[in-house]
Amino acid sequence: NKKLLVDVDCGVDDAQAIMLALGDPSVQILGITCVHGNTTVENVCKNVLRVLQACRKLEIPVFKGADKPILGTSISVGNFHGQDGLGDAPDASAPGLDLLQRENAVSALIRIVDENPGEVCLVATGPLTNLALAVRMDPSLPGKLKGLYIMGGNTESRGNTSVCAEFNFAADPEAAFVVLNDYQCPTHLSCWEFTCYSQLPWEFCDAWLGQDSDKARFMAKIFHHSMEESKKESLQDVCLGCTGFISCDSYAMAAAVDESFITETDRYPVSVELTGTHTRGMMIVDTSGFLKKTHKASIMKKVDLEKFKKMMMAALK
Ligand code: BDR
Repeated sequence: NKKLLVDVDCGVDDAQAIMLALGDPSVQILGITCVHGNTTVENVCKNVLRVLQACRKLEIPVFKGADKPILGTSISVGNFHGQDGLGDAPDASAPGLDLLQRENAVSALIRIVDENPGEVCLVATGPLTNLALAVRMDPSLPGKLKGLYIMGGNTESRGNTSVCAEFNFAADPEAAFVVLNDYQCPTHLSCWEFTCYSQLPWEFCDAWLGQDSDKARFMAKIFHHSMEESKKESLQDVCLGCTGFISCDSYAMAAAVDESFITETDRYPVSVELTGTHTRGMMIVDTSGFLKKTHKASIMKKVDLEKFKKMMMAALK
């Protein structure tokens, strides 16, 4: 079994990523920790429980984490994921927050990794606040991880939240800084530009959502709003001219589920800009060794999109 721990700010693409992992019978999700980001952390918790209900996996423990970044206040992602983070398509039978674990997300991350040393892949698809707090509480945590998979940052200084910053890093630059500098474990980054270049055609999306299953119907319902947003011409410049379907968070998850999905990477030391008029939150890729860091992250460049499509299809079967 592949053991995953998943830290999310559950908007629609986080939901897609969770469902992708659950679509693979060899994956065991040991817990899902929630963080502010695409919506409030309370909504994130509700959304994760709804996704687990749709997948009949409510036995997976869900933990509430940080409600804001380490410094300052949460930034808004706008209305892309809907106000509730899942396309404002409520569900009368949604599970209540009484199903949440009483333990907080940071302590759960530390405990679960400690109970499974060397075995857990941690997948983070939201702002990195919980992960940063966890390594401050337990500096030995990264050394016990099998791998860390992050959706966040950018490689060409092209932002989707400010001129130069990608949303998950912009939402908590200090946390991203701590994680990129203090998690000295095999680290895989799925950055903003890469996800745009790895878009899928909308025809695939139609076939994906058109599957005759409760999961596909659930996804069609929660995805409707952001699908319409994505197709707006105004978004195309931010998405580097992409006119297709990008499930941002699903690439990091797919890599954790099956590393052979990644076919080409760059390996460089990385960090995050913390100041600057336009550059706060921008990822720094140190191609020339100026940072004098020995730890290098693997930055995803090319992936097997046919394999990705199969995993996405299996998620909604
Ligand atoms: C990231 O921002 C969020 O809105 C998405 O869920 C994804 O994690 C992309 O920049």
